[in-house]
Amino acid sequence: MRALLTGASSGIGREVAYLLSENKVDLILTARRQSVLLQLQQDLIQSYQIDCQIIAADLSQSSDLSALTDLDIDLLINCAGRGEIAEALSISAYDDEQMLQLNFLSPVTLTKAFCQKWLAAEQKGRVITVCSLAARFPHPYMAMYSASKAAMLSYSLSLNQELKKSGIIIQAVCLGPVATAFLGPKQAEKRGQLSPQTAARKILSICSSRRPFAVFGLGSRTLDGLFKILPTRISLFLIANFLDRLRS
Ligand SMILES: NC(=O)c1ccc[n+]([C@@H]2O[C@H](COP(=O)([O-])OP(=O)(O)OC[C@H]3O[C@@H](n4cnc5c(N)ncnc54)[C@H](OP(=O)(O)O)[C@@H]3O)[C@@H](O)[C@H]2O)c1
Repeated sequence: MRALLTGASSGIGREVAYLLSENKVDLILTARRQSVLLQLQQDLIQSYQIDCQIIAADLSQSSDLSALTDLDIDLLINCAGRGEIAEALSISAYDDEQMLQLNFLSPVTLTKAFCQKWLAAEQKGRVITVCSLAARFPHPYMAMYSASKAAMLSYSLSLNQELKKSGIIIQAVCLGPVATAFLGPKQAEKRGQLSPQTAARKILSICSSRRPFAVFGLGSRTLDGLFKILPTRISLFLIANFLDRLRS
């Protein structure tokens, strides 16, 4: 088995890389920071004797994707992503575009490229995309993040249904807060978050099923259920209050 993992240099992606290596999956790791990837590659090869390549790429630039789409893999894990807590109108159009490219357009391009290859070769394959609770409901103060993750969840569910008969499985995993540097070092210290190790284990647990999506973590599943039954204006009010407080 050979997997391409985006966002491998830190947080959840890094832990996914360790878990896959423990299971003797050969890896192609990508992120922007080449020196961090290099250290990780050396550690994984030494500790688990797997075949591990690294490719430095900026997935907010569509031009960097061609270095990845020609690879030969059985599993794609779209983990790279970026978020920011801020007023939507304070974010520049350029930053909005970069986030949309990284969180939605790039994973779509990779997903399509590998599915087309697998279909042509009559090969089975699997794509797992790391989404977020923010994909399930609009998040004021994380408007573009929430919109980009919702778009990715929707795309993933639709494509999975279209490919049902092909043996190709497309899955999305929605996570609540995880203790990483994702929203800055201060947020990483907050309590009540999943550890990146637990998040990685939960993400990979979906490999044992064909479920098109899963919400992981007791707190996240409770919130997911709650926000589904609450009137939208109340959900929006509660999320806006929570994120506005985090922002300040
Ligand atoms: N932490 C949370 O609370 C949480 C909750 C739900 C979902 N998620 C999702 O989980 C995923 C991983 O996040 P994390 O918490 O592990 O955060 P993280 O520690 O900040 O990791 C983000 C990863 O994405 C890579 N990345 C960022 N910008 C990139 C770019 N322009 N091009 C290529 N790679 C890029 C980073 O590598 P480089 O900097 O080296 O490029 C890093 O490897 C994200 O998709 C996020 O939306 C996180």
